[in-house]
This record gives sequence, structure tokens and C-alpha cells, in this order.
Amino acid sequence: MSAPPITEIEKLSAELQAMQLRRPPVDPHLRRRLMATPSMGGARPKATVRDGDQFWLVKPILPSDTEDIPRLEHATQEWGRAVGLNFAQTAYTGFGEDSALSVMRSLRFDRQHGLRVMTLSAASLLQTEYPGHSGSSAWSYPNLARTLTMIGAPQEDAIELFCRMIFNAVIGNDDDHPRNHAIHYLHDQGRWRLTPAFDVVPNPDFTPQYLAMELSHGSHQISRANALHDAKAFGLSGDEEAVELLDGLLDRIEGRFDQVRLLLGPRLESLMQERLSEGLQRMRIM
Ligand SMILES: Nc1ncnc2c1ncn2[C@@H]1O[C@H](COP(=O)(O)OP(=O)(O)OP(=O)(O)O)[C@@H](O)[C@H]1O
Ligand SMILES: [Mg+2]
Repeated sequence: MSAPPITEIEKLSAELQAMQLRRPPVDPHLRRRLMATPSMGGARPKATVRDGDQFWLVKPILPSDTEDIPRLEHATQEWGRAVGLNFAQTAYTGFGEDSALSVMRSLRFDRQHGLRVMTLSAASLLQTEYPGHSGSSAWSYPNLARTLTMIGAPQEDAIELFCRMIFNAVIGNDDDHPRNHAIHYLHDQGRWRLTPAFDVVPNPDFTPQYLAMELSHGSHQISRANALHDAKAFGLSGDEEAVELLDGLLDRIEGRFDQVRLLLGPRLESLMQERLSEGLQRMRIM
């Protein structure tokens, strides 16, 4: 069954919400169509829409969300892109002041020109599982970086991963488990590459002290020392190169926040302003 067109995004979001709440269908035809398409997995309800030959993964707000998570996710993805990292392209749609509905969509990197692109999660790559295996030593950024190198991904992918680890540490995205990283096979390059970053969302409820993945061998704790400890695993030649990369990145994360403010709106802006100050303080030498 084909994915619904993007023009149906509002109806689709309402239907996904109803499914989550175990309510009867808003549109029985659409419900049947959603039930007949494969699930992408993950904790939140989602579906795919089609826009020409592009496919987007659609994630609506949930009634249990304490904040406008779709808005926060879109703004964070844009932040990563503004910093110069390879983050999936996203878009956000609110449905007006009177509507409690909002939705974000993420351009599917496992489809190109309408065809499937072979994609593998970091959970498979690291021979671990999510959910489950939490706290396992396989859940590790340095391990993932070494594995990327082992399977022939270029050096820039390991560096990109290092930068994503820092970004997650600063913004407090502690949902960075191994199913939230992936690789895909790019036929034009004839090799596996790290996919664009996806599902990068700051924890809206508290400032995390730990990431889901280890920053250095044996430790999930968010700290400057930890972020730098295993820099060699990412192909960085030594302390000096790692420090320079880290400090440059922190400056860019701080500098680009101005571009993200409007996307967040006042409430999320003040949350993230505070989070950013805390995160930078922890990751810089003060
Ligand atoms: N832009 C994308 N292109 C292709 N696949 C994607 C994209 N974004 C997410 N996915 C896939 O869909 C799965 C679920 O998406 P996502 O992680 O965004 O949802 P979630 O419900 O927030 O997940 P979680 O359980 O981590 O909170 C991902 O694990 C990944 O395999
Ligand atoms: Mg996810």
C-alpha cells in the first residue's frame, strides 16, 4: 500500500494520535491504510508521507508530551545543520493557535529516487539491542567510531560521530541509544556511510548527567575530560587536535543558537537557553 500524500499530513497526524490513545478511527480508510504499512519502530507513533519522489517520516505531538516535542525536534535538527553537521532535513507544521496538534517530519535517508537504500542500525552494527542491553559496553561512541573505520567508512564519519557526541552532551539528548544511529550503503560510493543524524531531541524534563552511549571506555558521564579521553578512537591524532575540534564546535553550537531561537518559540527558547549555558559550562575549561 502506498504512503499517503503530504497534503494529508494533518489528517494523518490526528489519526496517529487517535491510534496512540486507542480511540476509534477518525478516518477508517486512513486507519486501515496505516495498519497495513510497515512500522518504522521507535517509541512514538509515526507514518510515512510522499511528496513527489521524496518520502518523509511524520511524527506528531502526543497528548502526554509536556512540551511541543515536534517543534523542539525540528529546531534541534536545524541547529545541528547550522553548526555544519550532517543532520537529516526536517520540517515543522503547527495547525494554528486553537489546535493542540503539531507535527514534524524528517526526510527519509533510506529512500533515494523512490528506491530503498540499504540501512542498518548501530544496534545491529555493534551487535547489541535496544530496548534492552542498556549500560552494555557495546553502547559506546568510541566503539562505534572504530567499527565505522573497520567497515571502510571514511575518516570524516568518525569525526562527524565525535561532533554528534559533543552536540548531544551540550544540548542534553540522552536518548542517543544505538537505534538512534545508523549506517547506509551508498551505491555511488560503493561503501557504508554514517547516515544523517535523526531523532536528536534534548531531554525536555531535566538536564541529563549521562548519555545513553559511553563517551569514553567505561563512562557515560557528560564531561569535557570524558569527551576527550578516547579521541584517538575517532581518528584524531592527539589531545591538541581533539581540543581544537571540541572548542571550535562549542563556539559554533553557541553562535548558531541565535538562528534557532525563532524556531523554538518563547517557552522552548528559555528552556534551551538555560540548557545551552549549563552544557557549555560543563564542556569548556572555565
Ligand atoms: N529521516 C529518517 N530516514 C530514515 N529512517 C529514519 C529517519 N528518522 C528515523 N528513522 C528510522 O525510524 C526509527 C524511528 O524513528 P525515531 O527514532 O525518530 O522515532 P522515536 O519514536 O522518537 O524513537 P525512540 O524510540 O528512539 O524515541 C529510527 O530508529 C530509524 O530507524
Ligand atoms: Mg529513535
